[in-house]
Amino acid sequence: MAANTKLEHLIDIKSLSTEEILAIADRALELKNGAKPLSLKGKHAAMIFFENSTRTYFSFEMALNKLGASVYNFETSKSSLSKGEDFFDTVNNLSAIGFDACIIRTSKEGLIKRTLGERTKEKGKEREFFKKIALINAGEGTSAHPTQALLDFVTIKEKFKNLDGLNLVIVGDIRHSRVAKSNIELLNRFNISVKCVAPGYFKDENIKNVEWCENLNEALENADIVMALRIQKERIQGIIEFEDYIKNYQITEENLPKNAILMHPGPVNRDIEVTSGLLDSKKGEIILEQAHNGVFTRMAILEMILKNEKGVNNV
Ligand code: CP
Repeated sequence: MAANTKLEHLIDIKSLSTEEILAIADRALELKNGAKPLSLKGKHAAMIFFENSTRTYFSFEMALNKLGASVYNFETSKSSLSKGEDFFDTVNNLSAIGFDACIIRTSKEGLIKRTLGERTKEKGKEREFFKKIALINAGEGTSAHPTQALLDFVTIKEKFKNLDGLNLVIVGDIRHSRVAKSNIELLNRFNISVKCVAPGYFKDENIKNVEWCENLNEALENADIVMALRIQKERIQGIIEFEDYIKNYQITEENLPKNAILMHPGPVNRDIEVTSGLLDSKKGEIILEQAHNGVFTRMAILEMILKNEKGVNNV
């Protein structure tokens, strides 16, 4: 059954209750197993992507189509943002036109929260939209990618019926990774131990509640899940020491523990974070399963946010 909660937006993991996280995961797996989706016919969603995307963009589009909603690509370079329109005004006009949701990917930290008026709320003058419109974070800067963390959680829940005491190791460019930060926030709600392994240049000391480690082989001992991250070349100034990285941090057929699963949010830099041999082996299949689960997870999120107050008819 689609969960009965009052979720209006999806900004970050922090703003979700543990019950909402579990409800999204359970519903995603129900949908994957053939449950009938709710109908969002008559709902209109704008895809506002300032950064490139394959998995997030198309799995949101696929999810909206499966739910019967109408989906529109907001071409950022052809929009009036290029004439200097404020982003709040853009969203407010989309709400006036009749949109019910904006799915936003941006490199600007805090843009989505600011658009919801938190900044102006502090000054006592919260801005209202023309009519109710949901904002959904599809990846923001280096800080948050909540729908990726949720689909990763769905994948973990599917593979391990009991989450208690699992050991997860995150490897790589943690400093620039919004995926790592959202995953850590989410996994800290459960009894899953998270170890972060990175060279000094990819560490982020602001991340708490994890164990930091520089030695990959030590970190991988007892790992149940190994989550490799993409090196975010576009966010890094200066030279990246690929040779050093590959020698010390690449996940290979040899160092991946036999019983551990391998995850990666994608896109993968082949033969940098993970060897091609491993990606193309049975062990690499879960990375595609993550992309597959992204559709059902986003359907569950959209159902939760966009269903009518009185409930919605099944398709
Ligand atoms: N994992 C992820 O966000 O992939 P895309 O950039 O292709 O959406």
